[in-house]
Amino acid sequence: MEQYVMRGRIPLNGEVEIGGAKNAALAILAAAIQASDSVIVENIPNVRDVNVLLEAIRGIGGIVDRIDPHTVRLNGSLITDYRVDYEYIKKIRASYYLLGALLGKYKQAEVALPGGCDIGSRPIDLHIKGFRALGAEVSIEHGLIKAKADRLIGTHIYLDKVSVGATINIMMAAVMAEGKTIIENAAKEPHVVDVANFLSSMGARIRGAGTDVIRIVGVENLHGSEYAVIPDQIEAGTFMFAAAATQGDVLVKNVIPKHLEATSAKLADIGCTVREYDDAVRVTMKGRMKRTQITTLPYPGFPTDMQPQMSVLLGMAEGTSTVTESIFENRFKYVDELTRMGANIKVESNIAVISGVECYTGAIVSAPDLRAGAALVIAGLAADGVTVVDDIHYIERGYEAFPQKLSALGAQIEKVSTEKELQKFRLKVS
Ligand code: EPZ
Repeated sequence: MEQYVMRGRIPLNGEVEIGGAKNAALAILAAAIQASDSVIVENIPNVRDVNVLLEAIRGIGGIVDRIDPHTVRLNGSLITDYRVDYEYIKKIRASYYLLGALLGKYKQAEVALPGGCDIGSRPIDLHIKGFRALGAEVSIEHGLIKAKADRLIGTHIYLDKVSVGATINIMMAAVMAEGKTIIENAAKEPHVVDVANFLSSMGARIRGAGTDVIRIVGVENLHGSEYAVIPDQIEAGTFMFAAAATQGDVLVKNVIPKHLEATSAKLADIGCTVREYDDAVRVTMKGRMKRTQITTLPYPGFPTDMQPQMSVLLGMAEGTSTVTESIFENRFKYVDELTRMGANIKVESNIAVISGVECYTGAIVSAPDLRAGAALVIAGLAADGVTVVDDIHYIERGYEAFPQKLSALGAQIEKVSTEKELQKFRLKVS
């Protein structure tokens, strides 16, 4: 079994380059099949979820040419199979973007019900509500969501809850519907804007992405394009928090500081120095962190995808902090693991009450999901002694070259796959 093993309490120092945003890339690659010519997408992260999605697109007849690990040329104009039931596709959440993309372009789609990280019940009722409002018939049969329409007709859609996935999916179908669609109470996340910009680069007519109301005028055809995905704000935030947790000094490069405002503000709250540059942020931490309170919220609020990493920091801060998770009800599964490292956290419903300890102690822990896994790595980098993180396949869904990037900042961390390699690491660092 593959594991990350690390020795903690080494301050991270230096520079790290952030890759393209996984959650933007997944939607953009799905949307790319809507074009009638080739599309080149640059700055895609070379991570498991992206590779699974590309395989699925290939599986239905899309031409996928991986020019290099971060660039792909894609042509979906010859797709004749609208049924996406590739073995691994149900393991990734973003498979649902193929529904919106196929329905928009080909007016029919059958996609295996999405899985993804187990962070709570993850309904897709809003996606379905949107497709139905556009005129599609939608049903769930034998584990597949089926959507079909003779014509898609633009309409007014109000989302009862702010949903990134539903906003993007409805937008993808609506750009090829007849007439005007208005999506109200839309998600405003940077990747919603990135997908809208990408669709616009192919000729879609979209206004208001990044605000509560998105207005779309449908077009018959989308043409080819060349587009670069935005930097990953969550990967960036993860390195910023790793710098803080280890009393480090790290320049996080290739970011859009505006997308990191909530993360940077909370770091400043707990005593970190965060300096912003045009396309970089530098995080410096000296001394004990201070307590604070956070509540996860849709953008521009504090991101749920940074919640576990934040709890790891607060677990070492002075005093008692609270973390309220308002998006996904099951996002505290790392707490038991962190407790094994000495953390003092009590969870009541969707609130974690965290009494800071001086330092974590290394232990063998398991990643319960992607971001929680990254958070446990941060804890291990700050802990006294050696930490082993199991189930790293979750982490590899969304972080490219994670141990390599951390090593380049001075961390002692390795990916091991045998007991022998693990013992060798232990001997080396003892
Ligand atoms: C996206 O998930 C991301 N995934 C998640 O990233 C991220 O945590 C989440 O947005 C919030 O930012 C991808 O982009 C692939 P939502 P998504 O629809 O689209 C409820 C990571 O670690 N809801 O914005 O599934 C839902 O239950 C992952 O990279 C409905 O009720 O999230 C939740 O409470 C994990 N009905 C809230 O809305 C629906 O039809 C927000 O979910 C859809 C959602």
